[in-house]
Amino acid sequence: MTTDPKLKEIIAAQEEIFVRRQPRSKHLAEQAKNHLTGGVTSSWQITAPQPVWLSHGRGSKVWDVDGNEYVDLHGGYGAALAGHAHPAIAKAITSQAGLGTHFAQPTPDAIAVAEELASRFGLPKWRFANSGTEATMDAVHLMRSITGRDLIIKIEGCYHGHHDSVQVSVAPDPDAAGPRNKPNSAPASTGIPRAITDLTLIATFNDLESVARLLDEHNDQVAGMIIEPVMMNAGIIKPRPGYLEALKALLHEHHALLTFDEVKTGLTVGPGGVTQKENVQPDLITLAKSLGGGVAVAAIGGTADVMDHVATGGYEMVGTFNGNPLAMAATRAMLTEVATPEAYEKIEKLRQRAAGGIQKAIQDNGLTAHVVTAGAKGCVVFSAEPVENYRGFLGVDDRYSHAHWLYQHNGGVFLPPWGKIEQWLISVQHDEADIDRLVENFAVFARAVSREAASREAARTDATRTGD
Ligand SMILES: Cc1ncc(COP(=O)(O)O)c(C=O)c1O
Repeated sequence: MTTDPKLKEIIAAQEEIFVRRQPRSKHLAEQAKNHLTGGVTSSWQITAPQPVWLSHGRGSKVWDVDGNEYVDLHGGYGAALAGHAHPAIAKAITSQAGLGTHFAQPTPDAIAVAEELASRFGLPKWRFANSGTEATMDAVHLMRSITGRDLIIKIEGCYHGHHDSVQVSVAPDPDAAGPRNKPNSAPASTGIPRAITDLTLIATFNDLESVARLLDEHNDQVAGMIIEPVMMNAGIIKPRPGYLEALKALLHEHHALLTFDEVKTGLTVGPGGVTQKENVQPDLITLAKSLGGGVAVAAIGGTADVMDHVATGGYEMVGTFNGNPLAMAATRAMLTEVATPEAYEKIEKLRQRAAGGIQKAIQDNGLTAHVVTAGAKGCVVFSAEPVENYRGFLGVDDRYSHAHWLYQHNGGVFLPPWGKIEQWLISVQHDEADIDRLVENFAVFARAVSREAASREAARTDATRTGD
């Protein structure tokens, strides 16, 4: 990955510190390989230089099995808006555990959760599932079932989970991505039949024309479109003003439906997601991640028209664990006691503190980077220009993201791995001291890599002078 010798040295030195601090993690990683496939429980946990094994979390912190403490801004890939062991979540789970954890019959908490989601997101009807993947799978099925059409449109660079229809052009290599103005439907994984990927047409984020062209080329064949209304699997890419509203109008003109996948953005950018912030209501919304306060749960919301199709048996939305009582109890506590207006106010102050501090360090050290934030989520993008779509994201330098991740980790701040793709998550339990640690570590990293950049620049100037 790294070609620059100095940056390569910086990364190697940080990786050495990383491994030295975590001998027990190293041992567990080896032992796990015997019976745990690949030595982890999800392939995204395989990170360089080695997976980090955790023992516990409390408040804004987590501890690894070697006893190192971290300010946790990884947040379980965006699922820990509540922080860890939040008393309200712990109480809800404990009380429900004593009353039974599974019936496959509805419990009253499901009504309270559906009511709260309807009021936050403005869509009247809700159902539940267990993961973001299930929720977006149901949304795609539903759009097809209602319209009787097979094709869907998806944005290049959006991730919607690991079911076949959306495992298309998630992070395609430049040579697989196809022409900029006519992106390929590139399978994102092995095991996805071509017959399925061909049913997913690929458009470009922030480019209405790319959607209009597909709708015209496939007249009366497109069931709908699924989109992360703020892209969050390519750093953070925001919609241009008016883009989402125009998208909805365009799709409706063609009698096609619009799904906002708010699995990541849902509760994190604000109480009612991008939907509420941008004041654009799609036909369907999918939620998961932070919804259950750290318990596996997902939700699908829709307009009365769309969800009536389910209510009247037009599409069977099913699942043994849908609306599981433990998940509903945790979700109810999350919505009513944790993700409160006061919590969002506090997060907004911390957002400003993080963004301001890091942006200052970028400027002080002359880094080619900028900060992008959206509510509790934020990231550093290592490019000079703002990124508007996946093709722009391809130009972001991931060597710096990895080096930054290592500096934070060794300095006691756990950011999500895959730093170019992922974002930090500020939880309701973080405080100013936590954010200051993030900013201080960033400044240390910025000074180190700017020295490296300066010495590279000096070498270039010398070479020019001597005519090398
Ligand atoms: C936007 C989005 N949708 C769907 C998913 C899939 O969610 P899950 O991993 O819970 O299946 C993810 C996961 O990262 C996501 O970011």
